[in-house]
Amino acid sequence: MFKHILCAVDGSEHALKAAITASELAARLGSALTFLTVTKELQLTDEIRHYMEIEHLTGSPQYVLDEMTDRVLSEAKEQAIEHGVPNARTEVRTGPAARTIVAYAERNGVDLIVLGSRGLGDITGLLLGSVSHKVMSLAKCACLMVR
Ligand SMILES: Nc1ncnc2c1ncn2[C@@H]1O[C@H](COP(=O)(O)OP(=O)(O)OP(=O)(O)O)[C@@H](O)[C@H]1O
Ligand SMILES: [Mg+2]
Repeated sequence: MFKHILCAVDGSEHALKAAITASELAARLGSALTFLTVTKELQLTDEIRHYMEIEHLTGSPQYVLDEMTDRVLSEAKEQAIEHGVPNARTEVRTGPAARTIVAYAERNGVDLIVLGSRGLGDITGLLLGSVSHKVMSLAKCACLMVR
C-alpha cells in the first residue's frame, strides 16, 4: 500500500505540515517519498528589463527564484530526515501547479499525493486553495490533504 508518496511543497507552513505527515507515513509504510515544487516560467517585462539596465542590476531574477525553490525543497527534505526517511527525492517542474503535480504523479507511479489545504496565497477565510482543489479533482490516485 502506498509504494510511492508524492508531497507537493510551495514553502508555506501548510506544505511543511504536509511534508511532516508524508514523511511519517513513508517511514511507517516503507514507501518511496518524493517532494515536488512547481515553479512558474519567469516572464521579464520590458519595464523590468529597462529598470535593471538603468539601475545596473546584473543579478538574474531566475537565480533568486532558483534559490527560493532550493530552500523550499531542502526544508522539506530536512523534515523527511528528521522523521525517518533519509532518502527522499526532490524534483522541480515548471508549469501550471495542479496539472503539473497530477501529471508527475501519473508518470512516476505515484499512488498517494499529500498536500496542504492552503498555501502561500493570502486570501483570508479561504478553506481550500485552488491548487489543492484542482489536484483533488484531477488526480487519479489517492490524495491526502493536511490541515
Ligand atoms: N507551486 C506549487 N508547487 C508544489 N505544491 C504546491 C504549489 N502550490 C501549492 N502547492 C500545494 O498545494 C497546497 C495548497 O496550496 P494552494 O496554492 O492551493 O493554496 P493557496 O496558496 O492558499 O491558494 P491560491 O494559490 O489558490 O491563492 C500547498 O500546501 C502545497 O502542498
Ligand atoms: Mg497557492
